[in-house]
Amino acid sequence: MRPMTTITDTPTRVSAVEVDTISKVFGTGTGAVTAIDGMSVSVGQHEFLSIVGASGCGKSTLLSLVAGLDRPTTGSVVTAGHRVAMMFQEAALFPWLTVGANIEVPMKVNGVPRAERRARVAELLELVRLTGFARRRPHELSGGMRQRVAMARALAQDATSCSWTNRSAPWTP
Ligand SMILES: Nc1ncnc2c1ncn2[C@@H]1O[C@H](COP(=O)(O)OP(=O)(O)OP(=O)(O)O)[C@@H](O)[C@H]1O
Ligand SMILES: [Mg+2]
Repeated sequence: MRPMTTITDTPTRVSAVEVDTISKVFGTGTGAVTAIDGMSVSVGQHEFLSIVGASGCGKSTLLSLVAGLDRPTTGSVVTAGHRVAMMFQEAALFPWLTVGANIEVPMKVNGVPRAERRARVAELLELVRLTGFARRRPHELSGGMRQRVAMARALAQDATSCSWTNRSAPWTP
């Protein structure tokens, strides 16, 4: 007889990012800008969340806080010990490095051995459909191709979550 299987409608949701009532104010006094005012959001593991809003409403600021690049003025951001990679609005590649070397940067920082770095670069370039471009430099690529290199570099961090702030679609021309 087959063992009984239990099917639940609501699988256990494991949180990856918890943003709790944050605010972010840039500057002080009359020149102060409140970029975020009392925002809370929860992102579970394996969830994909899009944040849509008018220019200047605080999207990039929020993602910088989640990635730990800045601190909220009030409230908290908890990533439960996970590392968060950030893909910036501009590709922000190092222009003097080749595509392969750009993707290697986070692995070098993490002390990954050279042979392993090279193998991972090849895998990531295949993933973003840029096999054969490892020796090119950023100025030789289109804007979308540069965004895909930036995505490969973000994935090379082996982070648990990836925030990206980008209004262009890296997968379309
Ligand atoms: N470092 C900073 N110093 C001062 N003000 C800032 C800083 N960064 C962002 N701001 C301000 O915070 C507000 C939110 O900016 P943010 O970059 O988060 O907007 P955004 O939603 O990503 O906009 P866009 O869609 O145009 O990229 C804006 O008013 C901006 O001028
Ligand atoms: Mg932005």
